[in-house]
Amino acid sequence: MRSRHRAVQLALVSLLLPTLALAAPAPAKKGAPAPSTGTLRTAFVGKGGPLPHGVKVGWSHAAYENGDCSICHVNKDVKNPGALKASVNDLCFQCHEEFNAVMNRQVKHPPAVERCTNCHNAHNATEKKLLNADVYTLCNGCHTKIKATAENAKVKHGALTSGGKCVSCHNPHAANVEKLLVQLPFDLCVNCHSQEGLKDDKGVTLTNFSKLLAANKVWHAPVANKDCSACHMTHGSPNFRLLVEDYPAKFYAPYDPKNYALCFTCHNDKVAATAETTTLTNFRDGSRNLHFLHVNKTERGRTCRACHEVHASPFDHQIREKTPFGSSGWGLNVGWQKTATGGQCAKTCHDTKPYSNKTVATKK
Ligand code: HEC
Ligand code: HEC
Ligand code: HEC
Ligand code: HEC
Ligand code: HEC
Ligand code: HEC
Ligand code: HEC
Ligand code: HEC
Ligand code: HEC
Repeated sequence: MRSRHRAVQLALVSLLLPTLALAAPAPAKKGAPAPSTGTLRTAFVGKGGPLPHGVKVGWSHAAYENGDCSICHVNKDVKNPGALKASVNDLCFQCHEEFNAVMNRQVKHPPAVERCTNCHNAHNATEKKLLNADVYTLCNGCHTKIKATAENAKVKHGALTSGGKCVSCHNPHAANVEKLLVQLPFDLCVNCHSQEGLKDDKGVTLTNFSKLLAANKVWHAPVANKDCSACHMTHGSPNFRLLVEDYPAKFYAPYDPKNYALCFTCHNDKVAATAETTTLTNFRDGSRNLHFLHVNKTERGRTCRACHEVHASPFDHQIREKTPFGSSGWGLNVGWQKTATGGQCAKTCHDTKPYSNKTVATKK
């Protein structure tokens, strides 16, 4: 039940508010509510009184609309409500009983433990849910590091600025998952990223992860560990696709191990460095390094995505079914098969080519 103010009471209250507003700056009178000294308070919270006269009230608290200040203050008198009858949170818990349980969850948000009015106005507000500011501004008012990450990021995550914003992922009060998350992080990412037709800011359709993970049984180890954050930065990143390190954005890229910093934080960075090897990789024909052959070019080196699917694939070694071609989502069949001595690819990018990593190079 949304408690929009009733017109009659609004008129009554706003007639009286100018008096209060004028009285406010005077030195604290006996019985006046204690000034806000909380360490966590931000400028926009002010003294937490009703909105000043002239500010358009968006939402009004049922408990305040009633007109009886003595529900929370010592006096009934609207001109002189006086001090609070109890600590702020105890007042709130009296009516919002479910919050006793909420605030007993394992991970508690310090500003909610300290004082509910760090974020809510007990009387009325311009924002819904009686918030002191819109969610993004409210949260970032204290979390200035997150604000800086989000706003200075070259690649931004739409989840922060659309829909529920910060509270799509975090519970502002308390939670049973660390970092106040509303779900386990993997479920959080996968559930939102299972919307059909979700697009990035360039209009490219994003993957439906529930479908992808269900259809492809070979999950890349960090995905199987349910750790999307091993590679992605939730709040914003300097890199393509919110990645924690560099990874080429395009299908072709000049070879430079720095471009593949993401992969090479966990994998051997020499995998495509030398033309000949019998130890660095199994993607070789005898001693001819096929990773080198495909990837290590000064201009149009094929990127890992040509053959590997980084989240989940139908074949061993994260080999993908189709290599992406253009931005339409269409792909060329890779047709990779394991063979007794190595593997082979289909006649698409080139003729069917087997490789043997069990024997010495077979010259072709
Ligand atoms: C639901 C509880 C509740 C009710 C009802 C309520 N208040 Fe308050 N009021 C508070 C709380 C809590 C604070 C302290 C806010 C803070 O510390 O952030 C406060 C603070 C104030 C302040 C600011 C005090 C200051 O230091 O300047 C004013 C003014 C005020 N109330 C006026 C009223 C008036 C007038 C009414 C009745 C029409 C009323 N309140 C009814 C909870 C309530
Ligand atoms: C006298 C009872 C009472 C007290 C005390 C009280 N509330 Fe409420 N509050 C209500 C009622 C009734 C509603 C409207 C029904 C609902 O949404 O649950 C409400 C609604 C709310 C809402 C939701 C508004 C919305 O749009 O959904 C918030 C937020 C809220 N109260 C915060 C507080 C805070 C913070 C305190 C302590 C400063 C507090 N309340 C103290 C009775 C109370
Ligand atoms: C850090 C900011 C913050 C603090 C502190 C805070 N809240 Fe909230 N509260 C929010 C936000 C944001 C929402 C809106 C959540 C949403 O839309 O999903 C909310 C929603 C609510 C609601 C509406 C019901 C609901 O769950 O959506 C109530 C009631 C409420 N808070 C009560 C409280 C009480 C009681 C306290 C003190 C124990 C408190 N809040 C402290 C940010 C805060
Ligand atoms: C009044 C200041 C204040 C506001 C407003 C505020 N926070 Fe916090 N928040 C803190 C403090 C203090 C901590 C504890 C120290 C820290 O981790 O930075 C904290 C911690 C957190 C944490 C980390 C919890 C953990 O377990 O490490 C998350 C996540 C968080 N806040 C999210 C939010 C979100 C989302 C909002 C908006 C709904 C919000 N905060 C609004 C002050 C605030
Ligand atoms: C509340 C919904 C929601 C949740 C939860 C969510 N996302 Fe997103 N994500 C989006 C939307 C909407 C976009 C498209 C807009 C954009 O590109 O930022 C997006 C885009 C992305 C992108 C592409 C960004 C780009 O522009 O290149 C990546 C990568 C991503 N999300 C990863 C994650 C990860 C990892 C998680 C879990 C930590 C996650 N998302 C959780 C909604 C969500
Ligand atoms: C798409 C989900 C999502 C959204 C939206 C989101 N966060 Fe987070 N947040 C996370 C995850 C997951 C973590 C855990 C650590 C990590 O992966 O960065 C986290 C961690 C945090 C932390 C703890 C920081 C630390 O380093 O431990 C804070 C504070 C925080 N978020 C604040 C916010 C604020 C403020 C907003 C809104 C501007 C927001 N978050 C929006 C998912 C989200
Ligand atoms: C091992 C690193 C890694 C892990 C772990 C990982 N990703 Fe990614 N993700 C990538 C890379 C690399 C790309 C860019 C792929 C490309 O363009 O070829 C990407 C792209 C994305 C995109 C944007 C492209 C699209 O098609 O939607 C989203 C969304 C995304 N990842 C979400 C997730 C989610 C959700 C998880 C956890 C289930 C996750 N990622 C785990 C590396 C990773
Ligand atoms: C956070 C660490 C991490 C990151 C980052 C990472 N991987 Fe992995 N990857 C692993 C682990 C662990 C395995 C499983 C153990 C193994 O086979 O090396 C694995 C397995 C693989 C396999 C299959 C190996 C096999 O023989 O079955 C391929 C292919 C692969 N990763 C490619 C990539 C690519 C391409 C990137 C960059 C886009 C990347 N990885 C980024 C950790 C990571
Ligand atoms: C032209 C296709 C192709 C490209 C491009 C490619 N790979 Fe591979 N990769 C393979 C094949 C095929 C295998 C499996 C070899 C075998 O075991 O038979 C493989 C195996 C791997 C393995 C498992 C260990 C090994 O070397 O045998 C890792 C790790 C790996 N690739 C990482 C990468 C990274 C990182 C990139 C981008 C820098 C990349 N690959 C680019 C085809 C490719």
